Amino acid sequence: MDNQPTAPRTALSIRGLSKTYKGGLEALRDVNIEVNEGEFLVILGPSGAGKSTLMRCLNRLVEPTAGAIFHQGREITSPKQNLRDLRRQFGMVFQQFNLVKRVSVLTNVLTGRLAYRSAWRSLFYSFPQADKRIAVECLARVNMEHKAFQRADTLSGGEQQRVAIARALAQQPAVILADEPVASLDPKIARQVLNYLKQISRELGITVLCNLHQVEYTREFAERVVGMSRGTVVFEGVSSQLTDEVLHRIYYRDPGDADREDAE
Ligand SMILES: Nc1ncnc2c1ncn2[C@@H]1O[C@H](COP(=O)(O)OP(=O)(O)OP(=O)(O)O)[C@@H](O)[C@H]1O
Ligand SMILES: [Mg+2]
Repeated sequence: MDNQPTAPRTALSIRGLSKTYKGGLEALRDVNIEVNEGEFLVILGPSGAGKSTLMRCLNRLVEPTAGAIFHQGREITSPKQNLRDLRRQFGMVFQQFNLVKRVSVLTNVLTGRLAYRSAWRSLFYSFPQADKRIAVECLARVNMEHKAFQRADTLSGGEQQRVAIARALAQQPAVILADEPVASLDPKIARQVLNYLKQISRELGITVLCNLHQVEYTREFAERVVGMSRGTVVFEGVSSQLTDEVLHRIYYRDPGDADREDAE
């Protein structure tokens, strides 16, 4: 019995999620996604599909109009959920890196520790030794420890994104939400950054949700893919199932759905 493979555990359960923005734009419509513990899941879809809205619902930057999200069985969309606790669990990586430009790489990574520290420490960028050790370890994961004392704005785009990944890691999150993390990078560097994200997911067991709009990267890196079009999930499967028919469903609009196009 003991050596039976165990079923993957659910990390995130997104149930019936809808979001209509003020003005009536329906960015998400009845989205249902189950994300397994430790998996590297790519959300693939064209511009406007609702990928960023979905991530913002996950860290409660956007309140859904309907539906619920559960993380490790607890409803994070509940009004009782403490937002600081929630955001500590979700490390963010953005397209534009969002580093503090005029301070060092190390200080940027240390800001990932602020979720655990009091406000006065954040004001003075004052960090205990234990945090510095964590920050250096996180930099080492993305091979950036040798640039720890360099100013963030002197780094290349790929290096900045690696620092941003280290900052997310320093937060010791359960989940990393990467919203188009390679959209501003050239293909060689983009693959390097995606490799780091995938390696982190595999080695540390961190669940990674990665929004992408490029099919090639999705094919290369995704363990599982959720395809979105116009606010709905139109595909769920592994990357080898991304056939032309599926891509057509994700990337080309159904003429019968013209009402939403008009709203855009
Ligand atoms: N704050 C907002 N208010 C109103 N409409 C919004 C808001 N944020 C997003 N939208 C609209 O919701 C739809 C989905 O946007 P979203 O940013 O989630 O898509 P996306 O898949 O991330 O696209 P992209 O690839 O361009 O980042 C779009 O039509 C967008 O214009
Ligand atoms: Mg987006």
